[in-house]
Amino acid sequence: MSGKKVTQTVWADATAIAQAAAILDQGGLVAVPTETVYGLAARADSAEAVAAIYAAKGRPDFNPLIVHVRDADHARQFSQWSDAADLVARHNWPGPLTIVLPLREGAPLARAVTAGLDTVALRCPAHPVMQQLLATVGFPLAAPSANVSGYISPTTAGHVSATLDGRIDMVLDGGPARSGVESTILALRTHGAWEELRPGPIDVDALHRHIYGVGLSDRADTETSSGTIEAPGQMASHYAPGKPVRLGATEVAPDEFYIGFHDLGGDCNLSRSGELGTAAARLYDCLHEAAASEKPRIAVAPIPENGIGRAINDRLRRAAA
Ligand code: TXA
Ligand code: MG
Repeated sequence: MSGKKVTQTVWADATAIAQAAAILDQGGLVAVPTETVYGLAARADSAEAVAAIYAAKGRPDFNPLIVHVRDADHARQFSQWSDAADLVARHNWPGPLTIVLPLREGAPLARAVTAGLDTVALRCPAHPVMQQLLATVGFPLAAPSANVSGYISPTTAGHVSATLDGRIDMVLDGGPARSGVESTILALRTHGAWEELRPGPIDVDALHRHIYGVGLSDRADTETSSGTIEAPGQMASHYAPGKPVRLGATEVAPDEFYIGFHDLGGDCNLSRSGELGTAAARLYDCLHEAAASEKPRIAVAPIPENGIGRAINDRLRRAAA
């Protein structure tokens, strides 16, 4: 582990973004707002900078990082781009979709970014601060979620400081993240198959139907995620609040912090109107609150398994594992 750093949290105005760009240019670590969760960014073309991300997070080195790019043209420099990638990117970039493609030979990326895989995960984020930063620095930014490995993802600058203070150079505060769960990860295989590696804000089935007129489930070559080698970070235990989590709870014990949904009230309610988009945006905030509470256990109300509810339940299952 590297020595203790002084972490400054700064509101992300033009001056702060320029300062962040200078820190990144020199190989430093900056936590940045995105529309999903806060990311811990470093230049993706530097082995030392990327190694510093793994060290600060305590992240296992077999778990590859997402490379954030300006646009599709930038993504072509690092991947074997395809017509399918082009269509998918045209529909969803900038936005909360990560595309996994074969790595381009000689791509100017540190080896550790892809953890030795022959594929690369690429995302063009929509958050104006990230867009401004990417336009300023010129190089791609490797950025996992800005939390200590295995812990709850951050949707505010305060969540970032809670686990990474003293380990990174700067937190760019861009306010609370809008969508609140991490990007959908879609692998586009060379033989044409689509594989959803992580559910998120973009519905892969609906996207496929929109582009090709048929849903993903109607295709014979669709692979279901095995969660083993291709999605090494999709580990059973993740987003863990450090105490037992009980799911699908419609009633609560006195020693449980209750995360409610819709008319199941709770100590923290994901959405009183039962709106899943709101619930996704509030999920990690409620988990942080639950983790900080004096109650030794957490119970969570049932969440419908449709739309972004799939992503919420995926994260909750890992928080409970
Ligand atoms: O919304 C997001 O995607 C956020 C923001 C910061 O962009 N980032 C994020 O990063 O969630 P992280 O590191 O927490 O999750 C990245 C996931 C991991 O599960 C990792 O295993 C997977 O992406 N991944 C990265 N490269 C991959 C590859 N080549 N093949 C398969 N999975 C990959
Ligand atoms: Mg993460």
